[in-house]
Order: sequence, then structure tokens, then C-alpha cells
Amino acid sequence: MRKILNGKELLLGVCYYPEHWPKELWREDLKRMLDAGIEVVRVAEFAWNTVEVEEGVFDYSFWDEFLDLAEEMGMNVIMGTPTATPPAWLTRKYPEVLNCDINGNIYHHGMRRHYNYNSPVYQKLCSKIVEAFASHYAKRKCVIGWQIDNEINCETDVFYSGSDSNSFREYLKNKYQSLDELNKAWGTIFWNQTFTDWDEITVPRHTIQNTVNPHWQLDYIRFISDSANRWAKIQADIIRKYAKDDDFVTTNGIFGHLDYQKMVKESIDFITYDSYPNFAYCPSSYDENDPVKDRKWSMYLTETRSISKVFGIMEQQSGANGWTSRMEAPTPRPGQLTLWTMQSIAHGADFVSYFRWRTATMGTEIYWHGILDYSGRENRRLNEVKEVHKKIKALDQIAGSFYEAKVGILKDYDNNWDSEYDVWHGRVEQQSKTALFSALQKTHTPFDYIYLDGLTDASRLFEYDVLFYPHPTITDEKTIELLSEYVKAGGKLVMGCRSGYKDKTGKCVMDKLPGLFASLTGTDIPEYSLIAPDAGKVFVKWDEDEFEASVFTDLLCPINGGRQLAQYTSDYYAGSGAIICNDYGKGRAYYYGSAFTEEAVRVFLKKLNVMGPYDKIINLPETMELAVRKKDNKRYLFVLNYSRQAETITINQSVKDMYSNQNISGAVTINGYGTLVVEL
Ligand code: GAL
Repeated sequence: MRKILNGKELLLGVCYYPEHWPKELWREDLKRMLDAGIEVVRVAEFAWNTVEVEEGVFDYSFWDEFLDLAEEMGMNVIMGTPTATPPAWLTRKYPEVLNCDINGNIYHHGMRRHYNYNSPVYQKLCSKIVEAFASHYAKRKCVIGWQIDNEINCETDVFYSGSDSNSFREYLKNKYQSLDELNKAWGTIFWNQTFTDWDEITVPRHTIQNTVNPHWQLDYIRFISDSANRWAKIQADIIRKYAKDDDFVTTNGIFGHLDYQKMVKESIDFITYDSYPNFAYCPSSYDENDPVKDRKWSMYLTETRSISKVFGIMEQQSGANGWTSRMEAPTPRPGQLTLWTMQSIAHGADFVSYFRWRTATMGTEIYWHGILDYSGRENRRLNEVKEVHKKIKALDQIAGSFYEAKVGILKDYDNNWDSEYDVWHGRVEQQSKTALFSALQKTHTPFDYIYLDGLTDASRLFEYDVLFYPHPTITDEKTIELLSEYVKAGGKLVMGCRSGYKDKTGKCVMDKLPGLFASLTGTDIPEYSLIAPDAGKVFVKWDEDEFEASVFTDLLCPINGGRQLAQYTSDYYAGSGAIICNDYGKGRAYYYGSAFTEEAVRVFLKKLNVMGPYDKIINLPETMELAVRKKDNKRYLFVLNYSRQAETITINQSVKDMYSNQNISGAVTINGYGTLVVEL
């Protein structure tokens, strides 16, 4: 049986760096971990030189010795492949493996992740070291799985080396077959950008005002994702040749320019996320008025769940953040380590591994604290981990359960990436993302993200009563068919402004807007505008509700049976349509002409009857999160108090408190940073 994510138990782990410490400490460290309830260590992800200290010379003794000890002590091991930190001997001899910035300046040795995925030399050398690791260590009894590289696309998610340009050209040849097709797709007639030879094409370069042809840029980001995924697959395929049957392959973290849904289909068994909610408390970026602070990590955990319904946390915050150069943050307060662990579990993590056991005494991360400080003395954080362990053992039956949500937010990578460099798109996307998250969180309405990838089946969408698809500016016939199927079968679809005005190349369509969405939504958009900075507040009136529009206004007219539900009440668009709904089959599609504010989302949730599905059972203040996991007709409700103050909740029926195994009801006090898990 697979050791983690086996549907039977929740497990704790820790990141450990035996190469940082005298060997004499290893035994004591492993013993103390096991005593604290830590049963897994993740090792080796930066340790290339421990095995290949010069090219082609392999010495396996270091990890053999460590794995012998792990086996003797009963510790489970996740091995990392060490490709995130190429050795100095390698980058000196083969400088073409290095990544560059947009000006072509090379990233030199001294940090990490300074390589590119497309260098044939690096691919070859990485294949060799991965083959060496996997062929030698995978059969070891204590090895339970593998982590590919470390945080693919962390540090940078753009690549400008010569190998990248070469590979980009191949990618484009394959995609477009001819330069004519490419020129058409990229609209290169504009500003005389026409290519007449494939060799004229490179990855985007430094340009005046750093503005590059947007269609080129979109393909470039798709290409980065493709390259990273190819890279991961090379490693996964090698590992799988040697891994024992129950062992898994994963990678850690979620970063930009990477289609993880593809990765999980072709390379990894599940994703493991790296969760550092204490970033919310970095003095350099702290925002007192941010209502969601560390609670925002629930958004990232929701992203994680969109990749793997049940997942792991490879690195969970346990101490202060800080490199010598940046990211400094305070030590988590008493209770926060537990809160953030439970936040991860609430969203679907069945394995939580802390970063890291001992705090590094050398290098860039001497302030990135682990469970223990430099001395390794017993401390408050270790005691808290021991308490967490007791708690999660009381939660074992939750393992394998799925997060339950009736509201979904649709996403796709084309629109994610387009909104990164298209500031019109980016502005509405950002506004709605934050507003949707805040409103859903504060009204205790669990939700999922669902990525559409051209292969998504409508049955996946039928799980949700309401789907928001905030601003799909890029769309195609296939997506319209899928969404029509969902609505036809009874689903409620809510879209925001700017939908449907681009095709897959990112070029604007010449249809009447919202383009392909017109018929499904019964909407026509004769006019549109960014909200002028001197327009003041722009309001929308929907029956008895009035709320603020944001960023943009599509002025809407109903067509083909669509009905106007709401209108703008301000400025020159007062009286123009702001929301159109269209009955389609058994369901209904809504087109909202603006970006969502929190109030707008609340009104939609209320009117569409999906707000706070557990309100009758449990009443919580807005400062607390409610998350629900479900298995075998049992529901597990997680209550997470992100505030420093104790708060009281009311439970309106008798439920089992999972930590104490007692039935509780009525008024219950949750301590500052406290958590509660109840079974229904
Ligand atoms: C993660 C990374 C770790 C460590 C940690 C703290 O991004 O995977 O290796 O660097 O952050 O900075």
C-alpha cells in the first residue's frame, strides 16, 4: 500500500538535509522526529554533488549510509532529484545549460534554478543523475516516493537562453507548419513584424517599453509550460523504470506558466503544494486592510485541489521566513502552525511535511526557520508539532475524503496567461478573483476551481449548482459546447464582462460581442468602456439590491430570449443593461457586464440560492473559514479561526468533535488561531 495518500491515514513529514549536518546528529534527529509523530523525511533535492562530484564519477555511499539508518529506525523517505541546483563543475563546463534574463544576461552559479529546460546537454546530464539516483536508491525499502526537481518554475518562470529560442522555433514549426500560418496567427502584418525565415524567430527579447506582440507572447508562455512539462516527464519516465509498485512520483509547489493538469496526466501521481501562509505577515508587504491575509492560502490550496483532489504538502510553514536578502517575516505565533496545518488538511491534504527540521546555519536561508532553531534545542514549535500529531491521529478517518463544494469557478490557462500581460484583461481578472474569493470565504460557501482544457467532460461540471466563469476573453466553439451542455442540463452559469472577444491566438474577433457567448447568454454588447477614473462610483441595481460595478462596463441588450435583470444607475450608462439572463434548456446563463465586487458576488450567491449551505447547522463569524470534506456519506466540517481573538460559534445540532471524540452543540468558543473539526 502506498505510504502517503493511501486513503487510510493522515501523515506528517519534514524536510531534512543530512548533508548540512554532522553524521553524528542523524540518529538523534530521526529519533526525535519519530517521537514527535513525523514518519516521513523528504531529502536530497539539492544534493547533486553528494553523488556525482565530478562528471561521470558516481559515489552512492552518502545516501546509502543515510538510507541504512532510515531503514533501521523505521523512517520513510521521499527522495528528490537534485536537478534544481546544477553543480559548479557542470555549469562551468557547459554554460549553455544556464538560463538568461530577457536581455540575454546569464544567470551564474551562486543561487539555484539557474538552468533552462531546453538545453540538450542539461537534459542529458539530468537524465544521467536521475537514472543514477533512481537505479541505485529506488529499490530501498524506506524509499516511498520521488519528488522531481524542486519547485519547477519557482524563482523565475521565464526563459531566454539560446536553447530556449532553438526549441521555441521547433515548437512553432510543429504548431503552425508554415511561416504563413504563424504570421497570420501572430498578426505580424501589424507594425511590419512579418517573419520571412524561421531563424528570425526567438523567444521574446528586450523591446522598446518592454512590449512585445501579444500573440507571440501567448505562444511563448504556452511554450514555457510545454518545456517544463516535457522536462518533468523525462524525469518521471526514468524514475518509473525503477520505482517499486506502490511508490509515487510528485513535484512540489505551484508556480506560473505551468499547466499542472497536464503534468498530473502525463508525469506525476499527484501534486504536493508548498504552503507558506506567513508570507501574509512579511513587514515589507503586510497589508493591514487585507481581510484575508493568511486565509488567502486557502485560495492556493483550492488551486492545488484543482490538480489533485487529495494532495500532499511537501513544505508546510513551521518557522519564521527569511532569506538574507528578502522575505523576512516573524515567527508564527502559538497556534498558527496548527492552524495552517489544518487549513491544508481542510482543503484536501492527507500528508503534511514541514519545512524544515533544523534551521540552516549557512547559506541564503539562515533566517528561514524550521521546527528547530540552530541549536536544535527543544522548543515551542516542536511541542506544537507533537500536539498536531495527536490531533491528526484523531482525524485519520478523514483520509481520502474529498472537499465538497456546490459552487465552482472555471479557469483555463490561456486566459490566466493572457491576463498576465494584457492589462485590460488583467485588471478585471484580478478584481474578480479577489472579490469572488473574499465573498465565498466570508459567507462560508465552499468552492472549487475547475480548469477547462479542451478535454473536460460535462459530467465534471454537473457536480456544481453554480459556475462562475469570470472573464473568459479567449474562447472557442468547444468551450461553448461544453458550457451549453452544462446549462442545458440545469446548471447556472455566471459570466463577467469582456467575455468572448478573443480567439485562441489572442486576436479580437469581429463578431458582435460577446462573440461566441452571445447565443448562450442571450446578450448583445453594443458598447463598452473601462470605468473612467472621474466617473465616481458606478452602481448596478438588481431588484431590491444595489451594488458597485468595478473596472469595466459592458452595456448590455437582451437578444434571442435573453432578459435584462439589472441596469447601471450611474453616469451616461444609467439605464443600460448590466445583467442579462437567458433560460437555456433546464438551466440559466447570466452575463454580468462588469468585474465582480464582493457585494456583487454576494448578491449572485443569494439570488442563485447557494450562499452558506451550512448556515442552518453552524453559525460562524466572517473571520472564520468553513471547509467541508466528505466520504461515505459522512461530512467533516473544519472551522478555522484566523483571528488572534477567541470567538464563539453556534452549532445547531449535536455533532461529534473529532479531536475530543465528544458530542457538542450550542455555543462553542474557538480560541485565537483555534481549529475545530466536527463530524456530521
Ligand atoms: C521553498 C523551497 C525551499 C526553501 C523554502 C524557503 O520555495 O522549495 O527549498 O527555499 O522555499 O525559502
